[in-house]
Amino acid sequence: MVTDAKAGGGTPPVHVAIIMDGNGRWAEARGLPRSEGHRRGVEAVRRTVTAASDLGIGYLTLFSFSSENWSRPPAEVEFLFGLLRMFIRRDLARLHRQGVRIQVIGSRHELPKDIAALINEAEAKTAGNTGLCMVVAFNYGGRDEIARAAREIARKVARGGIDPAEVDEAMIASHLDTANMPDPDLVIRTSGEMRLSNFLLWQSAYAEFVFLPLHWPDFDDAALKSAIAEFSQRSRRFGGRLK
Ligand code: IPE
Ligand code: IPE
Ligand code: MG
Repeated sequence: MVTDAKAGGGTPPVHVAIIMDGNGRWAEARGLPRSEGHRRGVEAVRRTVTAASDLGIGYLTLFSFSSENWSRPPAEVEFLFGLLRMFIRRDLARLHRQGVRIQVIGSRHELPKDIAALINEAEAKTAGNTGLCMVVAFNYGGRDEIARAAREIARKVARGGIDPAEVDEAMIASHLDTANMPDPDLVIRTSGEMRLSNFLLWQSAYAEFVFLPLHWPDFDDAALKSAIAEFSQRSRRFGGRLK
């Protein structure tokens, strides 16, 4: 794929994706249960959606539960599911009024039925909104997403609907959960860890990465602005040359 080389140039990124990490350590450092870190993490989500919306960002993707997070104790998994339930129930009406469009990426099959129903409701209610697109990555893993896309394409090939020679990057991209979304320009990870943990593997091919030392419950609009300022200093070449 050929994309023009360009500097970050001070223009805000269209798509910011965040690996919201460090809730547990934030809580442990304060002698609190990990669940309190997750709860405070939801407040950081609310602040960040408002900040991103005010900055005119087009897409904000938030990594909320990974396909590998099932390996945590069942009580923590259940607590995280409960937070998603509560977030949709409490915040959907306000987000809708603010013109936010909600989309959820990740595998739905393994999710409890009521959560799948809430996700469908949130997506359907906000589908026509034209403000910030809030993308919630829930039960999401990049390898799982690519495997699901490959399976779907293979089914179409087997039925004779697609010639294998037609399978190209655009076709794969259009079978991912992020079909119709631009690739992330900026990927932020909090908590000081410097890894992707299976987040947006395909889509981050040319993203700029900013790793912040603070834990997710401490994230705020100043942190978002500082990450964007760092992004604006980067020179993006996409394999080409600036001159
Ligand atoms: C991020 O915080 C939230 C999720 C992964 C769901 P963690 O729970 O991973 O917190 P740490 O990394 O253990 O501090
Ligand atoms: C990544 O954080 C997943 C989310 C933020 C939802 P983890 O805490 O699960 O990642 P690892 O285990 O440190 O790589
Ligand atoms: Mg973590």
